[in-house]
Amino acid sequence: MLGTKQLDVFMATFKPLLDEELRAQVEKLEAPKVIKQAMNYSLEAGGKRIRPLLLFATLDAFNVNPANGLLPAAAVEMIHTYSLIHDDLPSMDDDDLRRGKPTNHKVFGEAYAILAGDALLTYSFQLIGEMERGTASDETKLKLILEMAKAAGAEGMVGGQVADMDGENKQLALEEVEYIHIHKTGKLLAFCVIAGALMAEAEKEQIDLLAAFAHHLGLAFQIRDDILDVEGSEELIGKPVGSDKVNQKSTYPFLLTIEGAKRALNQHIELAKESLRKTNLQAQLLFEITDLIAFRNH
Ligand code: IPE
Ligand code: IPE
Ligand code: MG
Ligand code: MG
Ligand code: MG
Repeated sequence: MLGTKQLDVFMATFKPLLDEELRAQVEKLEAPKVIKQAMNYSLEAGGKRIRPLLLFATLDAFNVNPANGLLPAAAVEMIHTYSLIHDDLPSMDDDDLRRGKPTNHKVFGEAYAILAGDALLTYSFQLIGEMERGTASDETKLKLILEMAKAAGAEGMVGGQVADMDGENKQLALEEVEYIHIHKTGKLLAFCVIAGALMAEAEKEQIDLLAAFAHHLGLAFQIRDDILDVEGSEELIGKPVGSDKVNQKSTYPFLLTIEGAKRALNQHIELAKESLRKTNLQAQLLFEITDLIAFRNH
């Protein structure tokens, strides 16, 4: 694929930095050993780190050193990881495999899995509060906290997950599934892009275009996730295939067939790129991440 190299080089630099940041942040907590182990277990299990990469790549597009975004990137990966731990619980999707390993509750039990999720969620806000002056002003930190809270909470990811659960065992309309996708997945991905733009003190017009980009990217991301739940390989995706069918979810493949879902995916990828082009930013990395999301097999 044209230009993939730039993203590969970028990932080779920033993934290890992020992994080290996550490890060090949990390590320094003065907390019972078991909760630190449970937090680390899911963080270290891997994962594509797409959300941190989106934040770093957005900073790069504005010529800001991506390393300035290490704390908010770690914060967002913690929120994402908490959401996965809770999503896999028996009372939710009831899955046994995540990131290629037994799910958190399978190893630590439900109570610690719930608490590890709670600890990751709350720590994420602490990390933004601890950003150094040189990387974000107090005003920017406040904006980041507000945006992250909205993206993760009832108006965002949690709201989407509620609608997702309520939709089990019934056939939803496509608009309802779109609402679920935009909220349960799109809002947190969008936060990463918005966070980068806020740190770079971008103009409102550019933030609006980036929000449109992220909106379509988020939808595309979850459509691809739903497609992989049908035709992916468990070994590659590191989680069970067919979970949505068992839970009778109204997904894009279920409503539109696999071919229809792939068409919708391509449409949103094109719309995402169109918005990104309009920003006139040097956004090669963001374009490459967009293709990665569209064509990923894990
Ligand atoms: C999975 O997210 C959950 C969704 C929101 C679709 P990812 O596909 O980013 O999972 P990891 O982080 O790579 O494990
Ligand atoms: C992810 O939706 C929503 C979250 C916010 C965790 P899924 O339930 O489809 O995610 P996977 O497929 O288990 O990763
Ligand atoms: Mg789920
Ligand atoms: Mg799930
Ligand atoms: Mg899924």
